[in-house]
Amino acid sequence: MNEREHAPVTVLGLGSMGSALAAAFVAAGHATTVWNRSPERAAALVKQGAVQQLQIADAVEACSVIIACFSTFEATRESLAEASLRGRDLITLNSGSPAEAREFAQWATDRGARYLGGAIKNVPSAVGNPDTLLYFGGDRDVFDEHADTLRALGGDLEFLGPEPDLAVLYEAAVGATLLPALLGFLEGAAVLATRGYQAQTMVGYSVKWLQMIESILPVIAEEIDNRDYTRLGASIEVFHNAIDQDVQLGTESGVDMAWHAPLHELLRRAVGDGMGKQSITALIELLAKPSGPVATD
Ligand SMILES: NC(=O)c1ccc[n+]([C@@H]2O[C@H](COP(=O)([O-])OP(=O)(O)OC[C@H]3O[C@@H](n4cnc5c(N)ncnc54)[C@H](OP(=O)(O)O)[C@@H]3O)[C@@H](O)[C@H]2O)c1
Repeated sequence: MNEREHAPVTVLGLGSMGSALAAAFVAAGHATTVWNRSPERAAALVKQGAVQQLQIADAVEACSVIIACFSTFEATRESLAEASLRGRDLITLNSGSPAEAREFAQWATDRGARYLGGAIKNVPSAVGNPDTLLYFGGDRDVFDEHADTLRALGGDLEFLGPEPDLAVLYEAAVGATLLPALLGFLEGAAVLATRGYQAQTMVGYSVKWLQMIESILPVIAEEIDNRDYTRLGASIEVFHNAIDQDVQLGTESGVDMAWHAPLHELLRRAVGDGMGKQSITALIELLAKPSGPVATD
């Protein structure tokens, strides 16, 4: 590896994710400076070879590449208020809203930093794996100049574009499937449990089911992009007709399925609007036109 691949790096924020990031840099041979509000969280990293700074200003001063992994953009800004960012390349890897990301990018660049907003699409234990995905938006030069360094965190790096909020925008868009998918699995496991079957017995079948969903995503995306809801072959009507079955399963099993109610409502609205014969993808037309106030909490 050449000098550039081993560029010194500072990691700020040593929670579960930040600690994994710092450990991956150390393991890849980067001189790694670390800082955390609660200093004791750095102990394990120091044993591995990281250098701890007790003042954030000193940690930022130590390297020109700064990776920040606090809980929020607000915490990142609060912490960095005491440091000079002039001439620094600041890369954030926290979650947040697109508006917060844009505001943060402005704040950082106003203070003389070049800014790249990133998101890591995996768990701390996957940091450093060749297939771990990280994506970025913002300053292209920062991405290009530090891609070799960032590769220590995951082998699958994507630059989404120059807008600094793109990483959190895609993180939210892609992540939107997580909770409904997990809740569906939990509900299925709860139903099986009422009959004495273990969750393990459905894992293999659920994996195949998720693979089926994976296989139809390109057609769904094409239907959305063309606003032509005729190709999928799974109509809104079919889902609408299954509502009674859904309700019956809840009653029969005693499992709480109240979270289905707004989904059923959406299907009823679609059928009421004469969309029954269109593919299920057409529900996006209703999502884009909320019938009531958009929920804020
Ligand atoms: N963990 C994951 O699986 C995962 C996966 C993808 C993305 N992420 C994202 O990565 C970010 C960090 O997650 P995490 O799991 O590492 O969280 P975490 O374990 O809860 O750690 C939070 C970190 O933020 C610091 N912090 C919070 N508020 C602060 C403040 N006001 N001032 C200074 N420091 C503050 C904490 O410092 P103290 O130690 O002093 O409290 C700690 O270093 C989040 O945005 C999360 O969404 C996490």
